[in-house]
Amino acid sequence: MIDFKQKIAQQISKVANLPEEEIYGYIEVPTDEKMGDFAFPCFKLAKELKKAPQMIAQDLKEQMTFEEGLIKEINVVSGYLNFTIQSQSIAEIVLKEINEKKEHYGESTMGQGKNIVIDYSAPNIAKPFHIGHLRSTVIGGALYKIHKALGYHCIGINHLGDYGTQFGKLIEGYKLWGEEYNIEEDPINELTKIYIRINNLCKEDESVLEACRDNFKKLEEGDKYCTDLWTKFRELSLKEFQRVYDMLQIDFDSWNGEAFYADKMQEVVDILQQKNLLVPSEGAMVVDLSQKDMPPCIIEKTNGSTTYATRDLAAILYRARTYDFTKALYVTSYEQILHFRQIFETAKNLNLSEKYANGLVHVPFGMVQLKTGKMSTREGNIIKLEELLNEAISRVEEIMKEKNPDLENREEIAKKIGIGAVIFNDLYNSRIKDEIFDWDTMLNFNGETGPYMQYIYVRTKSLLEKAGYIPNIQEIDFSKLSDEASMKVVKQIYNFGDSLKQAAEKYEPYIIARYLIGLAQAFSSFYNANKILGEEKVIQDARLYLTYATGIVLKIGAELLGIQMPDRM
Ligand code: ARG
Repeated sequence: MIDFKQKIAQQISKVANLPEEEIYGYIEVPTDEKMGDFAFPCFKLAKELKKAPQMIAQDLKEQMTFEEGLIKEINVVSGYLNFTIQSQSIAEIVLKEINEKKEHYGESTMGQGKNIVIDYSAPNIAKPFHIGHLRSTVIGGALYKIHKALGYHCIGINHLGDYGTQFGKLIEGYKLWGEEYNIEEDPINELTKIYIRINNLCKEDESVLEACRDNFKKLEEGDKYCTDLWTKFRELSLKEFQRVYDMLQIDFDSWNGEAFYADKMQEVVDILQQKNLLVPSEGAMVVDLSQKDMPPCIIEKTNGSTTYATRDLAAILYRARTYDFTKALYVTSYEQILHFRQIFETAKNLNLSEKYANGLVHVPFGMVQLKTGKMSTREGNIIKLEELLNEAISRVEEIMKEKNPDLENREEIAKKIGIGAVIFNDLYNSRIKDEIFDWDTMLNFNGETGPYMQYIYVRTKSLLEKAGYIPNIQEIDFSKLSDEASMKVVKQIYNFGDSLKQAAEKYEPYIIARYLIGLAQAFSSFYNANKILGEEKVIQDARLYLTYATGIVLKIGAELLGIQMPDRM
């Protein structure tokens, strides 16, 4: 598809004699459409050209030449050059591209040949998969799909918390009281109960604590009884987690958790030792990071056991060698910002090629805040993800019973809307902001929500169904789409690829979520302003094709976020 930004950048670069890439980066899409479709802030060149922005703008305007039919007008407004694209030409370009690419519209090859590791979700074995992990799962899943659409080869890793002294305790608890608990039936809840009970006993009886430590040691040494139990706890937990992954349509390429690195940590210790970077501190072995204004990175605890950080360092070595990554993303809450700064800094000393050390990126996100008292949970204040998704679904079912009592497949549709609403709410704001979890807001069919976007999609579907045909692109008269409302939809569709790239560059799925609301709203205005069916055939065809295109892009975008579209609702 023609990249207008590039066309503009080419011209400016030629006239101003500056690199096209630099110019390209400065070109903006103005929020106020009265300012045109693209704007170039001339003050960016004031220094280089030693001229006032207003003068630069004037000079550029006079000297630029574009091919016929591309640019409608160029205006100079307070140091900006504003470009308005010829509406007929942009409609033609966009809709022909849709016709050609269909559900692959917006995809690119920019990531070709590049591997990107995405570490996300990572719940802890034998512990509840709670709402805090929702964000990691949903943001990570979206980043995976977005990068894939841009041609990257993605490796999704579920770095499970399946290692640590707590497994020694669980094994001991199971040994003592295993028969009292039905861990096959309700694994996480039952294992949690065992864990709490054994922990209490450990506090009372030092010899039990000793036995737990011993179990963990045996586990590390590969003792059969301990390993079998560990495997059982892991598998049962995963079976339970899998139900949530199925609901969210989340997949991983690797399930190597922390335990996978048990035999790979020694290398980290050896390298750091060789470089004299491992220093004793209060009985522990640490890497001093005071030069970087950080507390030390603890590699071995006082009792000689390794840490979460050591395993992450071993994982960096392993991932660099196994996946040869351009980038490795870690999606966790902002509580781990310091942890990742510490391990990324320490990783610079692991004899890795610089490209790997530079490719490490922490992608932090904010907390989930609940409006208290509004969410029903089974116990305490831990909100389990599965219960939450089920509640979303049943709430939507209630709404649907009222809105559309005759709807067929209500259950199936409620699932898509309910889960979609939760995902969309999670992705609608910059990830670092705390997320407010409020049912009324996220299930509002008229708000900036998942259900609203799905509702507009369903409307495009039903319009096409009513018409009974998709117009042939060859027969479209693109000049019939030059009214303001139609053009807004056309331009929004044109900008999809750009949003995709921005979302990947900033690791921000919200850019796509916002884009989709923008498109849904533009379509809604277009629909209100224009009669689509029953118009003169050429007009009907043009508008119907735009409707078809809108549906395609809404669906692609939603799927990138992990949201499925219902066909009716
Ligand atoms: N299991 C950890 C937690 O629940 C998250 C792991 C994130 N990934 C990593 N490589 N450290 O907090």
